[in-house]
Amino acid sequence: MSLKVSCLNPIAECGLDMLDDRYQLTDNTEEAQAILVRSAVMHDMELSDNLLAVARAGAGVNNIPLDTCAEKGVVVFNTPGANANGVKELVIASMLLAARDITGGIQWCKENKDDPDIAKSGEKAKKAYAGTEIKGKKLGIIGLGAIGVLVANAANRLGMDVYGCDPYLSVEHALNMSRDVTMVKSNDELFAMCDYITVHVPLLDSTKGMFNKAAFEKMKDGVVILNFSRDTLVVEEDMRAALESGKVGRYVVDFPNPTTVNLPNTTVTPHLGASTQESEDNCAKMAVSEIRDFMENGNIRNSVNYPDCDAGVCSTEGRITVAHKNVPNMLTQFTGLFAKDNVNIENMVNKSRGDFAYSIFDVCTEITEQVVKELEAIDGVIRIRVIK
Ligand code: MLT
Repeated sequence: MSLKVSCLNPIAECGLDMLDDRYQLTDNTEEAQAILVRSAVMHDMELSDNLLAVARAGAGVNNIPLDTCAEKGVVVFNTPGANANGVKELVIASMLLAARDITGGIQWCKENKDDPDIAKSGEKAKKAYAGTEIKGKKLGIIGLGAIGVLVANAANRLGMDVYGCDPYLSVEHALNMSRDVTMVKSNDELFAMCDYITVHVPLLDSTKGMFNKAAFEKMKDGVVILNFSRDTLVVEEDMRAALESGKVGRYVVDFPNPTTVNLPNTTVTPHLGASTQESEDNCAKMAVSEIRDFMENGNIRNSVNYPDCDAGVCSTEGRITVAHKNVPNMLTQFTGLFAKDNVNIENMVNKSRGDFAYSIFDVCTEITEQVVKELEAIDGVIRIRVIK
């Protein structure tokens, strides 16, 4: 087996080191069976028929055409949680920077570095940089996935009064969250009472522009909004008006664009949330391990356009995987075909997600070209792979 992997962005070496001699890196995306990507935008990219999988070393997948990939049987993975601690630490740091004019104070010291009496004049100047404490303030967290939960727990330990809203909260994340975090049923409830609001949701049609004029009107005067998710969750012209009127006291956003960098009372960083050695290493290792499990075993873990489907390592004579449409009668056709060709199924996993489904069949005989051809001919079958 020789598999070609293309990196659209630099990927941490420790992840690439996990690709053994069965894998070869290539710059030619046409010949690649797998793509590793961070922030490169793939929407206008021609997806070659060789491509089987894309792994995003990060959480957000708005740079990848998920539906087009699914239609072509290209499984897209992300690395949920791998960079969560890096983002959490920056969110906490940003709240502290918003509460106290630390950067203003640092700047003052730089500007007055030649003053021999700087110690004395600093004592006079410092009142301009005084701030508030975050302890006892109300923090609202929208989205309690891997990042949101870590932020909730850390802020709780710092003495903040933490409120969370997430209609899709998973059992795993609920179990990891401090019991001191109060869950509310709607964003509006958070808006009405919180001094700080941080958002940790993916960019979807349903979340795009969720911070708009109507939302700002429901918030406390002087609220601090932190956005380490995606810039377009916010209607920027509405944010400008809210900042100008003082409704929003400060906007902290990790996405520079020609508008955000010119907003008043706004702190902009260049997408630094996950820019730590640890996060980059974790993401790279997780992305490569997902790609390897998919390439070598046909298993899907942490996909964002296909269902997770895991049959472990194949211990029978053959394994075949089928990416297919999630429509009635597919399994009957597959099993009927195996029966007709006298292929005994030893183990079978079938999972669906939205319009798409995925099946893994472990069988007791070698898989023939004939079986593959017959499976491919079934209406609704998108891609067949013979793993073993
Ligand atoms: C993510 O989507 O995981 C974060 O925005 C960080 C990143 O893309 O590097």
